[in-house]
Amino acid sequence: MSFRHVIALAALLGAGSLAAQEAAPPAGAPNTAAAAPAAPLKPGDATAGQAKIATCGACHGIDGNPASSQYPKLAGQHESYIARQIELIKSNQRQNPVMMGFIASMTAQDMHDVGAYFATKTSLPGVADAKLVARGEALYRGGDKATGTPACMACHGPDGRGNPGAGYPQVAGQFADYVTQKLKDWRDGKKWSDDDKGAIMPAVAHGLNDNDIAALATYIEGLHATDAGHTAAK
Ligand code: HEC
Ligand code: HEC
Repeated sequence: MSFRHVIALAALLGAGSLAAQEAAPPAGAPNTAAAAPAAPLKPGDATAGQAKIATCGACHGIDGNPASSQYPKLAGQHESYIARQIELIKSNQRQNPVMMGFIASMTAQDMHDVGAYFATKTSLPGVADAKLVARGEALYRGGDKATGTPACMACHGPDGRGNPGAGYPQVAGQFADYVTQKLKDWRDGKKWSDDDKGAIMPAVAHGLNDNDIAALATYIEGLHATDAGHTAAK
């Protein structure tokens, strides 16, 4: 089902290469990234992960809900997505100099254990700006044909929980500051990786203007993953 979404997006955007996602491993298949070491990768172990996150907690919060909105929330995020991002950051494809020193010695197994740990936590939802939430909701749920923007919901889900099998992250409750910065980066041509997944968000964001980005970001911050897509607005 998730691949249908990618193909639908590819058709909508006229980007044929995204259809190559169809060749990706099926949902739930073990992550056998090219860079994985010879030792077979076991599913992440949340208890083992808890012992490995002491340094991460200083920025991301021990339960994955950071005190400061300059760091993304990891609470409730999917194991596979967390492991993938740590790998992309470690290999410097996704540039994040402040984090490098903390992950330099992590193995693929560590990345999955830490991911499994944060996946057991719950993202604390924020509150959306009432002036922008209607536009944000319309874009999130329906996209905008005029700017070639697909509905975010098609991949990230009506409740913002994403789809771990397809590699679509949870976005519900994520800080608006962080989401704004990421959408602007993608809109302006930055990429996290050269693979098919890395091509998706630059294609999605390329028609967004700053007002639409602000509306989407505040809607996402107020989206409650635990409450079937309810959005709190102030
Ligand atoms: C000094 C602060 C700091 C520390 C310590 C830190 N991080 Fe980060 N981390 C960041 C920042 C800043 C970003 C966002 C970078 C960006 O904007 O792309 C980030 C992003 C991430 C992401 C991507 C999140 C997403 O939603 O895409 C993951 C996963 C992550 N960190 C895991 C970890 C883990 C695991 C540790 C501990 C081993 C750790 N971080 C330690 C600052 C930190
Ligand atoms: C075709 C599927 C698809 C659609 C449609 C889509 N996304 Fe994404 N999104 C992804 C994928 C895949 C990633 C992760 C990319 C990676 O791992 O390299 C992502 C990542 C993100 C992230 C980063 C989350 C984090 O914690 O760092 C945000 C924010 C985001 N998308 C917002 C949106 C918004 C807003 C829209 C609608 C305008 C949207 N997405 C539409 C597939 C999609």
